[in-house]
Amino acid sequence: MKLPWTLLASIAISTTHVTSTPAKRYYSSHNYYVLEHTGDNGTPLEEVASSLGAEVVEQAGELRGTWLLRTPKPLLEPRDGESDPVIAAFEDLQARASSHLSSRSEDVLSARQIVSSVVFLERQVPRELVKRAPPSVRPPATPSAVANRLGLKDPLFTEQWHLVNGEFPEHMMNATPVWDMGLTGKGVLTSFLDDGLDFESDDLKDAFDAKNSYDFNAHVALPRPTGIRDHHGTRCAGQVAARKNEACGVGIAFDAMAAGVRILGGPISTVDEAHALNYGFKEVGIYSCSWGPRDNGQTMEGPSYLIRKAVVNGINEGRDGKGSIFVFASGNGGRQDDQCNFDGYTNSIYSVTVSSVDYKGLHPSYSEACAANMISAYSSGSGNHIVTTDRGKSECSKTHGGTSAAAPNAVGVFALALEARPDLTWRDIQHLCIKTARIVNPSDPDWEKMASGQLYSYKYGFGALDAWAYVKAAQEWSLVKPQAWIHTKTVQFNNGKMFDLGHKKYKYEGGEAIAPGGNKAKMTITKEMLTENNLEALEHVEVRVWISHTKRGDVQVELFSPNGIRSVLAGTREFDEADTGFPGWRFMTLKHWGENPIGDWTVKVFDQNSDEHNGTFLGWTMALWGSAIDPQKATKFVEPVIDNALPPSQSPPRPVINDPDVQSTTQHAKPTDDLPADHGHATGENSNPAFPSATGKPGSQEDDVDSGSGWLDHMTSLVTGQKLLFAGIGAIVTMMVVGAVFVWRRRQARQKMANYTSLAADDIHMDAIGQERIIAGSGGPRTTRALYDSFGEPSTDDLPAQRSANVNPPSARGLGFHSSFLDDDEPSAGLSPSYRDEPTGHERRSIDSPVVVEHEIPLERP
Ligand SMILES: *[C@@H]1O[C@H](CO)[C@@H](O)[C@H](O)[C@H]1NC(C)=O
Repeated sequence: MKLPWTLLASIAISTTHVTSTPAKRYYSSHNYYVLEHTGDNGTPLEEVASSLGAEVVEQAGELRGTWLLRTPKPLLEPRDGESDPVIAAFEDLQARASSHLSSRSEDVLSARQIVSSVVFLERQVPRELVKRAPPSVRPPATPSAVANRLGLKDPLFTEQWHLVNGEFPEHMMNATPVWDMGLTGKGVLTSFLDDGLDFESDDLKDAFDAKNSYDFNAHVALPRPTGIRDHHGTRCAGQVAARKNEACGVGIAFDAMAAGVRILGGPISTVDEAHALNYGFKEVGIYSCSWGPRDNGQTMEGPSYLIRKAVVNGINEGRDGKGSIFVFASGNGGRQDDQCNFDGYTNSIYSVTVSSVDYKGLHPSYSEACAANMISAYSSGSGNHIVTTDRGKSECSKTHGGTSAAAPNAVGVFALALEARPDLTWRDIQHLCIKTARIVNPSDPDWEKMASGQLYSYKYGFGALDAWAYVKAAQEWSLVKPQAWIHTKTVQFNNGKMFDLGHKKYKYEGGEAIAPGGNKAKMTITKEMLTENNLEALEHVEVRVWISHTKRGDVQVELFSPNGIRSVLAGTREFDEADTGFPGWRFMTLKHWGENPIGDWTVKVFDQNSDEHNGTFLGWTMALWGSAIDPQKATKFVEPVIDNALPPSQSPPRPVINDPDVQSTTQHAKPTDDLPADHGHATGENSNPAFPSATGKPGSQEDDVDSGSGWLDHMTSLVTGQKLLFAGIGAIVTMMVVGAVFVWRRRQARQKMANYTSLAADDIHMDAIGQERIIAGSGGPRTTRALYDSFGEPSTDDLPAQRSANVNPPSARGLGFHSSFLDDDEPSAGLSPSYRDEPTGHERRSIDSPVVVEHEIPLERP
């Protein structure tokens, strides 16, 4: 039966504002496609569909103008290299539409009309998302019971150290003072995009919101867990909304409601994942997402167009336009060198990315670092796990953990804040994180000062989330102005080009070879650009790069701001052997938040200068996001249909076909593969910089980049076209600069010491610091050595990555700018004796003097 277009349109209009239950999918008998249609002016949707041999099923989730189509499965699946029949039919129409010969024939005209009515077309293939779940392990003895003045009868409350930490009272979510204020999450709806949610559990049945729940794996209404390992969503939901009763423990927002959207119980298609991210988005405040691409240190993957479109839809339309709050776990691949900037969900400007700190306040080695980390929240490590509700009538889990469990703790805090201030927008939530996060481990060398004066760490983000500080600040908060942005032009080097060949293959052409000391390029942001783009205050910065390389894990990417602040965007990844480079990959950094963006931004790309591997830098572009000067002129961002090609097509090709047969259809491995089995037991650390081989610490305003790029500019003009001479002079100048930076860093280190001292006095319990030292080892200069030695003890038997780093120093690692000389000196300057023997430094670093040949790429001004 064919519905007339007008009827379909009216159905569409009437259903876009209610949560629609998706039609059941029959992947075994049908192929599914998503088609974005231009709307009223084009060829009617039904006609477009029938010209492709397909029928319309329904609107694709909450995406207006985007439709789910299906065809009966062909008897034979297309073989490798053969196009899918629907995609082939569309390509055929495209070919006919572009034929010049019989351009007047009706056939051609109709083909043209159909083609121009289609914005986007994609085959749907279910794929498996990876849950960031801990394996079942026996917990150690829990800390002794804490006095309970709150009259809670939940039997396991006394073991929920993340709520009341008797042993290290400065390390907990600090929610109990918020409960004393009468705030417990009432009227706030949270949604768990996860595996099942046990809505019959005594702890969750009164919190469960059935209306906004759905099972996208089984395509049934309720997210009932199935299979023995389906307990992750229930545990996460318990952390937020477990009721104050006689079962288990309590959630941080124990009067909040919880919906379950099951997407990790099996494979899922893109359209369903997109729908899940918008499921119930008029009513849901916060989406808890403890999943993503694999955390094996080898994967670099982000959301595809439909999913990015759904996220932006949630930001623009969710919660009555205040924006859905997406909370993502940073990832559990820390021991595999994995970084959250290689995950397109966690490095999105729209996510609050949460890493872990453990019950002693230390950084667990599994927790991933990156410049997109916003905050940390308490989770497993140093001997303790998260205690929460488990699947079953009155079951409890004492083995929950990983960054999976850090994210729901943040969700709980945001639920408390939304009860106090339901008007907070998605960006207010982020601002409040940055404003109120608590510094942990102030002497950790990973803390670096931003231009705003605030400290930032790739490991902890802006610090540990503190419910009381957060909610107090929220109560008095003035809402931020709407969002504005600058997207700079895309710069190409030496005619650098990239073509996306599908099948995760890319063809790179041109570009500048990555020189031994790295390649630098500058881009200037002017005051006029800010005015023109209505941008007042800077928040997120995105950098998109096109880099080819025979070993992706060798590549390091850094960004230096006009004020000399450095963001490490990519650190080395020992196990990342991919030869596909960075095909227009987007990195995001929070380290320039609040900084004046006017001036020269410099990106630096370098590799390990190995004999085996090399690559080219082909191009880059930047996006600066922040708040608007004039709220009246602010607009809502529309996610563009773009491909990764370099240069980007001026106007996006219409339509874009995105056939996932051409992308990967491999299913991900089990989530538990990447969270180490000892995630709750292994001792955390607080003395290792996240990126030890990065090219030195950022300078103060007048040093480092300014002096660095100054001499580089000079050098480039001196030796244009004389590479040998350049290398020689480069080496000499390097020695001079290294000397100068040496002296400067001594001074810098002393200043830093002063900063830390005052911080410690203001914010930190001194005995906590002492405690950490005792935990880490014997105290004093050899602390870190002791910490690593303890990792090597036979009782702690599964730290392969850590061990191999000690036993097998990759010799080329960290051959960065002034890394060998200068880091050695810092402890003697009195900064922090605890990382004198920092193992990833000496043992991973080459003993050769770094011959740094800086090579500046000719600049193009945007
Ligand atoms: C990389 O090395 C290969 C083999 O030595 C060489 O053919 C190629 O030109 C090099 N590429 C660059 C960009 O230097």
